[in-house]
Amino acid sequence: MQGRDLKLRRLTAADAPKLTTYANNPKIAANLMDRFPNPYTLESAHWFINYAAENEGESVFAIDWGEGLIGVISLIFKPDIYAASVELGYWLGEPFWGQGIMPEAIGLIVKHAFEDLQHSRVYANVFHTNPASRRVLEKAGFEREGIARKAIVKNGRILDVWTYGKVNPRL
Ligand SMILES: CC(C)(COP(=O)(O)OP(=O)(O)OC[C@H]1O[C@@H](n2cnc3c(N)ncnc32)[C@H](O)[C@@H]1OP(=O)(O)O)[C@@H](O)C(=O)NCCC(=O)NCCS
Repeated sequence: MQGRDLKLRRLTAADAPKLTTYANNPKIAANLMDRFPNPYTLESAHWFINYAAENEGESVFAIDWGEGLIGVISLIFKPDIYAASVELGYWLGEPFWGQGIMPEAIGLIVKHAFEDLQHSRVYANVFHTNPASRRVLEKAGFEREGIARKAIVKNGRILDVWTYGKVNPRL
């Protein structure tokens, strides 16, 4: 998928060094599920690249800004009746924050989810401690759907989770 400034493409083994460099950041891990390790080693990167290639429950893309991977965005598929919806996950290397890159990447992957995969809804779950991610979703046209209070535990703290959704206008 080609955007104005970036493209979304599949990961390859050659992405492992940059994946390690940018993912190895506690500020990123603090906003993601615990399956995202910290520290993030070269071994973690190779594990994830294999997972992305083999796992049919998730469609993973590298965010490539012209000189290689700078982040990751993925669609996480849901079972049974929830298959109409798909969950969005994403992170960006810290040197690239604040330049509007993630809203563009989300626009591309939502188009893919609606037009190619025919999902009726894309949603994202954001910790209440992550205002930057809430803002990104609002900029990408998502609406706040609800708040699950005290829904998760992250780094020993109980947090609320805000759900944002965008629906397919054609379905
Ligand atoms: C969240 C993240 C994806 C943002 O990507 P990005 O490409 O930097 O997004 P943007 O360039 O649109 O900038 C972030 C927006 O949030 C705003 N923002 C940043 N920190 C903020 C804060 N503490 N409070 C309020 N708004 C904040 C910025 O001002 C900007 O909005 P603006 O364009 O209206 O000024 C990136 O910071 C990241 O990867 N964070 C760690 C992982 C993560 O949180 N993933 C999402 C899990 S749900």
